[in-house]
Formats: sequence, structure tokens, C-alpha cells
Amino acid sequence: MTDKVKEAAALGARRLDNDEPAEGIKPETWFSVPIWARKVVNFERHNAHLLDVTAQLEKETQSVTRSNVGGWHSVSNLHIDDRLSEIRQVIGRTCVECARHMAFDFTKADLIFQEMWINKNGPGDFNKAHVHPNAVLSGSYYVNVPAESGNIEFFDPVRERVMSLYPIKKRTKTNSQALEYRCANGLLIIFPSWLQHGVQPNRSNDYRVSIAFNMGYRPKPPR
Ligand SMILES: [Fe+2]
Repeated sequence: MTDKVKEAAALGARRLDNDEPAEGIKPETWFSVPIWARKVVNFERHNAHLLDVTAQLEKETQSVTRSNVGGWHSVSNLHIDDRLSEIRQVIGRTCVECARHMAFDFTKADLIFQEMWINKNGPGDFNKAHVHPNAVLSGSYYVNVPAESGNIEFFDPVRERVMSLYPIKKRTKTNSQALEYRCANGLLIIFPSWLQHGVQPNRSNDYRVSIAFNMGYRPKPPR
């Protein structure tokens, strides 16, 4: 018995001889995390309007503090503000499609907006790493993203992976511990609300404006 066969026998393998091919085995990827990104059609028109609304809201309401360090953060119920109805529809329809990818059962519940708010980060402002509790899907739509004003970063939710680090040739979808999405005007990014994320500091001299949202669900009465 060769060492290789002895080793295989010790591992409980039924058969492994010198001809046993090692190639051809492919992983099934489980516990994967979906992140959706799309560019919104006619985003220039939406964004001009949304910048006007942002200026109005800054005059009408006080800033609140959430994950933002500095910056202006609107109240969180803008999903019921008619001035944002167009972008709300775009976001809502896209989230329905994302929920379908997640096998959300629309016969049992409706996907609903829980919150929507505007973030305006000035030079040096950022959003520390956080999750959005008690929601299903969250995301951001980018209204004004100057160069160097900060990308969104996502962090590996599998914390235990740090216990098993190994040398890697390159970063892949199965070994990355963090990833960065380049933000751009008109981009809509949607992700599961439990996925930890943050926004890098704004290193430009201009304002970075985005609309963030949380989607939840409302159970339908039994039929
Ligand atoms: Fe967030």
C-alpha cells in the first residue's frame, strides 16, 4: 500500500490509487451574499431634482446622527415625501426584483419601504461600519459623487474566516474579507440589510449626496 493510499484509507476514502484524478472537482458556493448594482436610466434628470429637494430639506429640517460622522443626515421618513416619489418607484421596483432573486414569497408578504433618507457628506465626513437592523434589503442611490468623495465598503460577514487565513494568489469571491464598490452618479446599490458596510471619508472639496433606504415586509393575511 502506497503512502497516498494509506493516507486516503485513514481519511475514510473508499478508493484512491495513483490513477485517481484530482482535477475536475468544482465547489458549490453556499452562504453567498448578493450585492446588486445598476445604473438608473435618466439619472441626470433625477439627480438635478434630488439636489433641489436636498436643499429644501436642509432648510426645513434638522440633521440627525446615525452612522454618519459629520455630514448632514435628513429625517428617515422621506419614503412618504411626494418629492421623492419618482426615485422611490425606481428603487422599489428594483428591490422587488432583488427580493425575487432571494426567493421572497410575494404570496405571503409584501415588500415595503420602512425608511428613506438623504446623506450629505462634506469634506472629511464618513459613515462608520454598520448594519441596518430589522430590515430585509437596504441600499444607496448616488445623487452627487465627486471624485475621491468616498466609496462604499462591504465587510465579510463570516467572522470565523479570520481563524483560517492562508496565503492567496489573488482576491476572489470566496476569499475576500472586504470589498469596495466605486460609487458614481446614478448608481443604485442594493444589499441584504445585515451586511456590514461603511463609507470612506470624503477627500474631495465638494459634497457627496446619496439616498439610502431600508425595505422590510408586511405579512399578508391568510387566504
Ligand atoms: Fe448603511
